[in-house]
Amino acid sequence: MPTDDTAAPGRVYITTPLYYVNAEPHLGSAYTIIICDMMARYYRQRGYDTFFLTGTDEHGDKIAQAAEAAGEEPQQYADRISAAFRDTWEQSGLTYDRFIRTTDADHVRTVREVLTRVHAAGDIYFGSYGGHYCTGCERFYTEKELTGGTCPDHRTVPEWIEEENYFFKMGKYQERLLAEIESRPDMIRPERYRNEVLAMLREPLEDLCISRPKSRLTWGIELPFDENFVTYVWFDALINYVTAVKELGEERFEALWPTANHFIAKDILKPHAIFWPTMLMAAGLPSYQHLNVHGYWTVDGAKMSKSLGNVVRPLDMRDRYGMDSFRYMLLRESVFGLDADFREEALITRVNADLANNVGNLVSRTLSMQQKYFQGEVQPRLDTRPEDAALEQAFADAARAVDVHIAGLMPSRALEAIWRAADHANKYIVETAPFTLAKDPASRPRVGTILHNLVEVLRAIAQLTLPFIPESADRIAAMLNLPDDGLRLPSAPWGDAFAAGHRVEKPTTLFPRIET
Ligand code: MSP
Repeated sequence: MPTDDTAAPGRVYITTPLYYVNAEPHLGSAYTIIICDMMARYYRQRGYDTFFLTGTDEHGDKIAQAAEAAGEEPQQYADRISAAFRDTWEQSGLTYDRFIRTTDADHVRTVREVLTRVHAAGDIYFGSYGGHYCTGCERFYTEKELTGGTCPDHRTVPEWIEEENYFFKMGKYQERLLAEIESRPDMIRPERYRNEVLAMLREPLEDLCISRPKSRLTWGIELPFDENFVTYVWFDALINYVTAVKELGEERFEALWPTANHFIAKDILKPHAIFWPTMLMAAGLPSYQHLNVHGYWTVDGAKMSKSLGNVVRPLDMRDRYGMDSFRYMLLRESVFGLDADFREEALITRVNADLANNVGNLVSRTLSMQQKYFQGEVQPRLDTRPEDAALEQAFADAARAVDVHIAGLMPSRALEAIWRAADHANKYIVETAPFTLAKDPASRPRVGTILHNLVEVLRAIAQLTLPFIPESADRIAAMLNLPDDGLRLPSAPWGDAFAAGHRVEKPTTLFPRIET
């Protein structure tokens, strides 16, 4: 992530989309925030100054209608669903620094400030407009963008709306945006989405309608220059990314803003890749560092929907399998940028094979032998044989691969690399056979060395997996009796973390096998 020249070294600002409060948290919203949490933990572990933002998007037609359907006032309705998001994320152990709501006073203030600035600069004008409006998308479509007269996303016939409104001169910034995206190949990643955006920018870019008359909608932020209108929900919501860091003071803002990494799915590419950077240009702010775009999850091959009854809820998954298992499955079974399919059987297979059998066994075998042969006391490492050096090398390679794949947004490959090293460690146990050597008193020192290497392996696994499966990594660290900052990086070199005489605990089950 913050690897290119535009990044201030050692800082990163990570954001999720602000979720609409017309639906409760599900697999899709959970995936984005879990990826962001993994990234934030990864950078924090390496000592980066990290700021991680999530929250809820609460204004606009869609929410006003959902509140009405629920028989509630919009504010009361938004309070309730926003709290459900917050609760879910808190119970899921996610480590965001702020949960922002678009109804927060500081956000309302920032939106009005930006509108005032852009208006004063002459980039907002009053005009009339007719267009096909899809409430599901909260946007106007041109004739050309519709498929067979319906919204390409929702497959519903949009409403023809003609009214007087305020417009943002988005078209004015088309060439500048095109030039910026062309000169910064990794601004929008992966490349397929960059190409999609470049294709959009080859068509004329229309100005953006940024208001709604109060005669039609009152649930929004009032325009600072016309009390008869509220702000279009996207012009409101996108600004949250600035609100949150602006609130930290000028110095923090200057430091963090250039490292902004937005994570979204492909459904909201256009607002983030076109509306947002042009809004920033008009407001006189630099663009974000990266827009990271992932694919869409289906469940058992079908689109997730309330009516199909196949909505996967993160807390159900946590209760059934544990949060780490759910995280592991999402990160391991998808390629960032591509669509993926969620199947509970696949989760079970993964958890049993990779977590219970592979890493779980490695932890329990190592710590049981350490107990059985040395009452938990780590022995000195006497020599380094070729198989010991190869083991150490396998983990050094995994650590390097994790860095490369995280920088390249390929968490599944980072996990593969860690599990290759864990496989190597399991083979090391079979090949060095400490359980056989232990029968011969003369081989005791060698058994001590082998087990010392294996507790190093467990420390390396805890360090490498911390961003992905944090609870389990912390549990391994606790069984090893590592100090509080024992998983931070850079860390003690291999062989230096455990002084002779250091005690490790008896193993407890990390990942129970899931019976089907
Ligand atoms: N409120 C806007 C975003 C404003 S950001 C300033 C919005 N909200 S949303 O609730 O509809 O969330 C969309 C996002 O939720 C997607 O971009 C993605 O991050 C996540 N996902 C929702 N469903 C998803 C899947 N089925 N699969 C993957 N991600 C999904 O759009």
